[in-house]
Amino acid sequence: MQINYDFLDPYTFKNKPITVRNHVVMAPTTLKSSLEDGSVSDNELKYYQMRSNGPGMIIVEAAYVNELGKGWEGGLSAADDDKIVGLSRLASAIHSGGAKAILQLFAAGRQSSQTILRGEQIVSASAQPYPHGSHETPRELKHEEISQTIEDFAAATKRAILAGFDGVELHGANLYLLQQFFSPESNRRQDIWGGTLEKRMRFGLAVTAKVADTIDKYAKRPFLLGYRQSPEESTTPGITLADSLAFVERLVSLPIDYLHLSLKDAFQKPFRDAKAIKQVTTHYTEVLPDNVPLMVAGLIKQPMQVESLLDEGVTFAAMGRALIADPNWVQKVKLNDEKSIRYAVSPADFDLLGVPQPLKKWLLTRFKNGFPVTTDIEFDPKTPWKYYKSAPTQPRQQIDPTKLMTLKKRVDGN
Ligand SMILES: Cc1cc2nc3c(=O)[nH]c(=O)nc-3n(C[C@H](O)[C@H](O)[C@H](O)COP(=O)(O)O)c2cc1C
Repeated sequence: MQINYDFLDPYTFKNKPITVRNHVVMAPTTLKSSLEDGSVSDNELKYYQMRSNGPGMIIVEAAYVNELGKGWEGGLSAADDDKIVGLSRLASAIHSGGAKAILQLFAAGRQSSQTILRGEQIVSASAQPYPHGSHETPRELKHEEISQTIEDFAAATKRAILAGFDGVELHGANLYLLQQFFSPESNRRQDIWGGTLEKRMRFGLAVTAKVADTIDKYAKRPFLLGYRQSPEESTTPGITLADSLAFVERLVSLPIDYLHLSLKDAFQKPFRDAKAIKQVTTHYTEVLPDNVPLMVAGLIKQPMQVESLLDEGVTFAAMGRALIADPNWVQKVKLNDEKSIRYAVSPADFDLLGVPQPLKKWLLTRFKNGFPVTTDIEFDPKTPWKYYKSAPTQPRQQIDPTKLMTLKKRVDGN
């Protein structure tokens, strides 16, 4: 049966004449594979190029806007003009398959380390270490440094424009610096940058306004501005959904082109409110104006999930792990060949999928429980998107040498 999914139709942004060929977006997923100085590597070019034929847009992994903003080894840099050449290769690799190229911009803040910063102390809104586990204590950014960081986001945006990207996304999610200023847990300041909800909003809004001005000034063709948000934090104090919706109400008075929610599960309800009835996305579609489409990420794997998100008023489905596992996900759906979608990866296939070594290592170790590797899971071929953790593989039995001879004869046909 041929299914005509609406999400395969093109979409034209309301504020700018940019059309994307469908409603699927490759979510930003860091490959940890840039060169030592943050320049784009050939491995990155290959990975992005391999995924450029399907989604309407590819959001390139978080690129740091200044040296203190680096969050991990192999991180991508947009912090210097000498990165423009590599970034323009990256934009071209994405354009080669017809996808629009968006560069995600961030500063890691306290989610970094002195080792990654080569001896510099990590920074944040306040001197509050990350609350779970044992972490380095950051240094509180001074007022002038905050102003400079806003300028750094603007300068990185100009580089993205010069490199030929179609837009930038401000990474206000996943506990990095923009979120650290917004959160009452990490922002304990009592100056103009903290103390009340209004003041905690100031940094994110100031960065967005400055980036919007930069686009106005330097972009000679339509250039998108998106904002990514994590709507809730689990800590007390911590960001609540009401805080995030209040922020969005202010954000949409600035010329942003889409809002991106980073969720664990795109269909989840607010987790801070046990009595919540509506899904998180519904809270947003109810308040977002028509000209600001909603994008959501979180465990989206199946075409029917994307279609039902669209039915619920979400405009874009951002897929992270599903597109690591299958670069041809969209093409298979278009061909009515859903049964061949790869939902789990064999350790033998990472090279085939263009996954660089640092990402492969991460997925097989620290990310082990979050990424389905065929040697670790059980699944029913009828529902390959559902998987279960299996017991560790038993060590291989030694084959009896006499049986091996018989087997060899059978295979060789003599
Ligand atoms: C390997 C990996 C790297 C990621 N890197 C980023 C990143 O650079 N920026 C970001 O905003 N989110 C990042 N994320 C989060 C994803 O964008 C996405 O929100 C998350 O994986 C949930 O979507 P999924 O279930 O489709 O994978 C990363 C996720 C993974 C698995």
